[in-house]
Amino acid sequence: MCGIVGYIGKKKAVPILMDGLRKESYRGYDSSGIVVFEQGKPICLKAVGKLENLENRIQTNKYGSGFGIGHVRWATHGGVTEANAHPHCDCKENIFLVHNGIIENYRQLREKLVREGHKFSSDTDTEVIAHLIEKYFQGKLEEAVRKALRQVKGAYALAVIARDDPEKIIAARFSSPLIIGVGQNEYLVASDPNAIAPYAQKVIALEDNEIAIITPKDISILKEREPQDLEIEAEESEKGGYPHFMLKEIMEQPESIGSPLKGRLIIAQGLAKLGGLETVKEKLKNVKRLNIIACGTARHAGLVGEYMLEEYAGIPTEVEAGSEFRYRKQILDKNTAILAVSQSGETADTLGAIKEAKQKGMMCIGIVNAVGSTISRETDAGVYNHAGPEIGVASTKAFTSQLTVLALLTLLLGRQRGMSLVMGQRIAKEISRIPELVKKTLESEAQIKELAEKYKDFNNFAYIGRKYNLPIALEGALKLKEISYLHAEGMPAGEMKHGQIALIDENFPTVAICPSDSVYEKMVSNVEEIKARKGPVIAIATQGNEDIKKLVDDVIYIPKTLEMLTPILSVIPLQLFAYYVGLLRGCDIDKPRNLAKSVTVE
Ligand code: G6P
Repeated sequence: MCGIVGYIGKKKAVPILMDGLRKESYRGYDSSGIVVFEQGKPICLKAVGKLENLENRIQTNKYGSGFGIGHVRWATHGGVTEANAHPHCDCKENIFLVHNGIIENYRQLREKLVREGHKFSSDTDTEVIAHLIEKYFQGKLEEAVRKALRQVKGAYALAVIARDDPEKIIAARFSSPLIIGVGQNEYLVASDPNAIAPYAQKVIALEDNEIAIITPKDISILKEREPQDLEIEAEESEKGGYPHFMLKEIMEQPESIGSPLKGRLIIAQGLAKLGGLETVKEKLKNVKRLNIIACGTARHAGLVGEYMLEEYAGIPTEVEAGSEFRYRKQILDKNTAILAVSQSGETADTLGAIKEAKQKGMMCIGIVNAVGSTISRETDAGVYNHAGPEIGVASTKAFTSQLTVLALLTLLLGRQRGMSLVMGQRIAKEISRIPELVKKTLESEAQIKELAEKYKDFNNFAYIGRKYNLPIALEGALKLKEISYLHAEGMPAGEMKHGQIALIDENFPTVAICPSDSVYEKMVSNVEEIKARKGPVIAIATQGNEDIKKLVDDVIYIPKTLEMLTPILSVIPLQLFAYYVGLLRGCDIDKPRNLAKSVTVE
């Protein structure tokens, strides 16, 4: 994946940068570039494809500059083009930088900078940092970088140089590794120690929020401790024209799922590429059992993950609430790994369980949305959702993003242990279609609003599902409880007849999640049992299933997809239903009573 290298000292920078890039290239990349200044003029060279393509453009020994930066890129935001390759620069070709990580609020920042007159030349998230630095630059590069980074939300390792403040590299990191190599009257910067091993005798590992000012003579490190600008919070908190964050977050799911998929799927090879797991990839091959630890909505995502991982990766998987895992006797061995799933990365029960597991020597990996959060730091490795900040207390886009990442993880682990190429390709291709299918699913919004009107005065609801959609029944019921304060219970459809059915009459509606999958016929039988007792039924069914209309009172259709991916679609009508019922009942949608977004107490 992406790699950074930088050099400042008495030697010629270009050959050292190229050597570093070659050593970083083993991680996979699709383009590369370097920049140095020659007599105050930037020489910025980039190429798509193999490093040799870049080498062919550079007469390595021609340039005498003693400082510069370079990068190998693995595309995430923006296609594989020369314009999108790093280094990126500002409008005046003064500031140049290379970046690893993802800037989550780049869209808002970019729109604002464009309004202020900045001209962009790439589709990347990275370029916004160059323009932000330009905005604050008044002669001292470190000052401008410091101010710019206060505006930025996401993960980054950065190396920055400026024509108008030469003989200086500014390096900064948050949640992406970056080290500084100390040589003889020379310094190097790299995201991978291999890149600088021949030149550096000692290294300094930058810590989160640190900014290093590196000159040929010395190095000093600033710790950025000040809180983020309120301005940013306000910007991010904008509801984008929606009346509530919850609705905004439901409607932006095609994007919150789609953006992070870029660069994570290799369809032709039927593979998932998850950079955050690279360091433990080999260790993962020996994992014989997985314990998924999560709370609330994230636990429901974990339950879907259990079905995926067992069916397609063949790994026995157990899901447990953090609050339970911590205090019971666990039978764990060294081949069991812990997978923590958390939107905020701060949930006390999940965190407590990780600490417990770490004490026992278990490997812990995470699926976390909030970059740099405690869980992301406490785990050995992990995958960021990059779904963007979730403000509404009821989790929606984080949930569908967790399901998508679990599908990617299933693909990765499945292919490590015998899943065929054809199956891998099929799953990868279908995952890539999910954002478009989510978009189609959201088209039912108006119909769901009408249904909310029809059902809003019932006091009790049952949600039933089987297999992959059982956790969605639990999640659908949870959403309704959280937002409308109505009583709702989610349960396995087959369990209905063992007790719950006693409650069913014409005043007790059931939401039945019954897409056309391997358990469809069984679901229909359970729906028949409810209808025989006059219970109203809303079905979530697959587009094209006209038969179901004859059996139930109302149907909401979702597009067809692979069975393991249906939960990502089937949950969406349930999110919208909860939203509109809550709204019609006058509830406080974004701040439901008694609930907190991030529960940092036991
Ligand atoms: C709280 C939130 C839920 C969330 C749960 C777990 O209860 O209200 O929406 O699912 O915590 O949070 P996490 O941040 O760990 O996913």
